[in-house]
Amino acid sequence: MNNFLNINEITPKNLSAILEDASKIKEATLKDAIYNERYSRCLNNTITGLLFEKLSTRTRLSFEAAVLKLGGQVSNLRKDEIHLGQGETLQDTSVMFSLFLDVLVLRVYEEEKLYEFARHSKIPIINGLTNESHPCQVLTDIFTFQEIRGSITGKKVVWLGVANNVFQSLLHAAASLNFCIVFSGPTKFEPSQKMLEFTQKYRSDILTIEKNPVVAVENADLIVTDKWVSMHDNNLRKSELNDLEKYRVTRELLSVANKEVLFMHCLPADKGQEVSLDIFEDKRCVAIQEAENRMHVQKSILRWCLGLF
Ligand code: CP
Ligand code: NVA
Repeated sequence: MNNFLNINEITPKNLSAILEDASKIKEATLKDAIYNERYSRCLNNTITGLLFEKLSTRTRLSFEAAVLKLGGQVSNLRKDEIHLGQGETLQDTSVMFSLFLDVLVLRVYEEEKLYEFARHSKIPIINGLTNESHPCQVLTDIFTFQEIRGSITGKKVVWLGVANNVFQSLLHAAASLNFCIVFSGPTKFEPSQKMLEFTQKYRSDILTIEKNPVVAVENADLIVTDKWVSMHDNNLRKSELNDLEKYRVTRELLSVANKEVLFMHCLPADKGQEVSLDIFEDKRCVAIQEAENRMHVQKSILRWCLGLF
């Protein structure tokens, strides 16, 4: 049994195995007969629990679709319909879930809560996003880049705006898969102490900070951004919004990067804030492919967690 909690806790070999499995699954999906023969029953007799304390469109639905297409069943657990936190401890809830489910996808606020859940669980736990991380998203982003452009190793990835939870998972991936990240954003939204300590401890060469967004994106192979305000964040003050303006991803900014540059956004987006209104019509933007790939990659995350390869 394997937990999928954070990318830095999974060996590069296992990350590559998950990515490779996802490629095979996606390819088989396009050729129906192969898919049916190899994969459509691999989660038979399993139940995947989905417990989300925050909103979700893509993660919940793509996990649900992944499980159903692999022949498993899902149980959608609503936080206002279970006792967790209102008369039952997290430890007891985790033990109960282990009696009836085979794997659990958890989206919570505090990262500590995810780990506490995993500590008491006898079934694999998958991190569906916390305030600090979003590993399923980032593994899909790597998959999507590699599907279009080949290996991400040695590539230059530029993150614009706010160093948030998705950014931290990207940093974890850079350390394992050997690519470089340039962060460009206002001082207030720069990588946290924890993120800097992670890079100093493991790979001080993977992260640089460049204040000027135009300089940052020169020769970029991949440009990524996310909402300036995440679900757990307070609204921005006017001065903070003003500081962020110049880090908005526009078609002009993409044109400073490598000719072959791709642009990713995990979605949902605040069009007109972190991205220009027309960015999603640009050929370099692969946000829809990125969203679609969530299902393929998560099929493999589920299979890996359940020890199916
Ligand atoms: N990208 C992503 O995780 O989207 P949701 O919040 O809709 O799940
Ligand atoms: N950083 C965003 C990601 C949403 C998928 C958030 O946490 O709200």
